[in-house]
Amino acid sequence: MKVKNKNGSGGLEILLEKPTPFEMSLPWGDDQFSRRFFEVVNYWGIPTEKEVGFITQFLRDGAKALDLACGGGRHAIALAELGYRVTGVEIGSYPLKLARERAEAKGLSIDFVNEDILKLEYNNQFDLAFLICGQIGHCDPRQVQTIFKKVSRALVDGGIFITHGWQFSREDRANYVRWYSEKKPFYLENPSIVHREQYYFEKERVKLIRDLAIDTVTREGHLYSVSEKEYTTAELTDFADEAGMELVKTCGSFDGEPLTDTSDSRIHVFRMARRKMPNILPIGNLYIPLAFLKLYAIFDFLV
Ligand SMILES: C[S@@+](CC[C@H](N)C(=O)[O-])C[C@H]1O[C@@H](n2cnc3c(N)ncnc32)[C@H](O)[C@@H]1O
Repeated sequence: MKVKNKNGSGGLEILLEKPTPFEMSLPWGDDQFSRRFFEVVNYWGIPTEKEVGFITQFLRDGAKALDLACGGGRHAIALAELGYRVTGVEIGSYPLKLARERAEAKGLSIDFVNEDILKLEYNNQFDLAFLICGQIGHCDPRQVQTIFKKVSRALVDGGIFITHGWQFSREDRANYVRWYSEKKPFYLENPSIVHREQYYFEKERVKLIRDLAIDTVTREGHLYSVSEKEYTTAELTDFADEAGMELVKTCGSFDGEPLTDTSDSRIHVFRMARRKMPNILPIGNLYIPLAFLKLYAIFDFLV
């Protein structure tokens, strides 16, 4: 059987190799995949009130919020309905189309941007940014480091960044192999038979699922793998520190319960520290050391 994978295609022997954490990710930016994924997983069915209530405790009236990986825009829309100015960034064109249609139907003006959150180029303009519903866990450590840096640039001084990952259960930490079938799969257009392997990498706290989906019509195999990391508070705090943010709160649920080993969610709230004054001040083509300007000001005052 031919197996299509990220390198083109190969044979079934690919399953003989143990995967490595984050070796592949789901094709979120692929139009067909993102459409099938959102048709199967109905994010609009998930209640948002508690999540929105949690976010708004950090927002003053009319503040500007950045919804990272906003999907179909359920949080962005709820926040805009409350009067906040919102930008939603999403890599999948299909969920973004749904988000735009919903916002328009409600007469809301939301800036929905089709972009990769790893390529954000905002500067000093948001009061709060959030990456919730587990997407942080699907980013490898270098990507999370990049996200913290991009968010830190996008936030104003004192701005807030909320991250939300899922805490692993005993089943998440297990290794297993099983077969299952799907009549309406999100991997393929046709019903498929899936050979699923789950690997848990204890040291890295990464769960990896590798699925060989066999299309029941074309008989072709398609290999997908998705990794998820349970980031510790210490790991996230290091990324935050490097990006000029400090940890202000951890919670185990959007009700504000404390984060414990049995919590279902891992919520971290960071605050952007005040940016330091640069030591050099660019004026036109001149770069003037600030110390010199201070001396000049004292001299000017004295004479
Ligand atoms: C688990 S869904 C959550 C969607 C939304 N935040 C919600 O709670 O309804 C994850 C979303 O992240 C998007 N995504 C994944 N990687 C992304 C990236 N690098 N940049 C922007 N969006 C991304 C996916 O397309 C998907 O819509």
